[in-house]
Amino acid sequence: MTTHNILVLGSGGREHVFIWKLAQSATKPNLYAAPGNAGTAQLATNVDLSPLDFEAVAAFCLEKGIDTIIPGNEDPLVAGIVDYFHSREDLAHIFVFGPVAELAQMEGSKDFAKEFMMENRIPTAGYHTFTADQVSEAISYVENRPGPYVLKADGLAAGKGVLITEDVNEAKQLIREMLLERKFGEASEKLVIEDFIIGVEFSVFAISDGESYAILPMAKDYKRIGEGDSGLNTGGMGAVSPVPFVTDAIMQQVQENIVEPTFEGFIERGEPYVGFLFFGLIKEHKGPMVIEYNVRMGDPETEVVFPRIKNDMVQLLEAMRNQKLHDVPIEVADGFCTTVFTVSGGYPESYEKQKEIQLGQPENGVFFHAGTKQSDGQLVTSGGRVIAATAWGSELSSALKQSYNNVSKITFDGMYYRSDIGQDLIRLQHGDMA
Ligand code: GLY
Repeated sequence: MTTHNILVLGSGGREHVFIWKLAQSATKPNLYAAPGNAGTAQLATNVDLSPLDFEAVAAFCLEKGIDTIIPGNEDPLVAGIVDYFHSREDLAHIFVFGPVAELAQMEGSKDFAKEFMMENRIPTAGYHTFTADQVSEAISYVENRPGPYVLKADGLAAGKGVLITEDVNEAKQLIREMLLERKFGEASEKLVIEDFIIGVEFSVFAISDGESYAILPMAKDYKRIGEGDSGLNTGGMGAVSPVPFVTDAIMQQVQENIVEPTFEGFIERGEPYVGFLFFGLIKEHKGPMVIEYNVRMGDPETEVVFPRIKNDMVQLLEAMRNQKLHDVPIEVADGFCTTVFTVSGGYPESYEKQKEIQLGQPENGVFFHAGTKQSDGQLVTSGGRVIAATAWGSELSSALKQSYNNVSKITFDGMYYRSDIGQDLIRLQHGDMA
């Protein structure tokens, strides 16, 4: 079986990166994105399909002879797209690069991921899980502990299900809202209350074919809307790779204490893991710990991780389809890659769409589209996060300078971006932070 016709599911910057990288393959695959955006449309055929409508996705795959599907975000994985394709004989030849629904719970259920970490002795914050009939237990749990209190809805809540407060009364109120009033719908049928950990966050990514795994370049993203990491959480305002404070010694701890036991844990369960796995980590004084797993690549981390990978992505997929990942070393470019997201004014709260976008030519970098579309021959905004300006540089500072230079070539009404992406790391490099 060869990889010629590839379907990427999703419509964000991450999916544009996948299409961009696949389009560079020496094998010249036919590429489709569902539903895609104006960036994917330049290199692939956009298809008006919902990634959650498995029957429609399957019918499209059979019609076009699709041999490989890359789900970009977690929703189809948690909803069981891999199991669906395995369950139908006429689809069994199609390689869906992702975990089965059971393992997609590593992201789909915080409680599942916590139990998995406890069973496999993977370092993570202490926690307790409560259900709706345990509200009084949850309240006495917080009353008997010092804050801050980290409250996590068990299920998927579109990135909004984690609430942190230092005020015990607010924590008690949030417990009631989450468990009794279902603040996050079904996602808060269960509530995980975690110990608060202080440290700097970073992200590590791996790919696995079920037998072996490989670690991809690390990254750090910037989640808040405001300068100095202030204000509301967003899907991500920028990212850098690699992360200067993550030394080889820290990466060795990550591999030995986190990545290796995670993949071994899957094999011990009898459920080998296939797909991307994202380790959201925190550098704590005792060593790196896991904050969360995601069963997909990060966004905007993909916009800085994939541009550093030198391997042909189709050949990598081919190796994984044949469980030969162990034969393919991941080759990573030296230097740094950075990205700065331009977003619609008002995001992450309400914002206007259909703003005309003027784009120049990025230098030593790429524009990755997220919320963009073509409307009557004009490129317009169609979402909160609009275009990520990625750039390369031999140093972190030169990559950032080039990303911002590329941002200056993007114009749309109300455009906003953070001007301090990577500045904390530059200060760290100069020894200004612990
Ligand atoms: N950048 C974080 C995420 O993709 O969830």
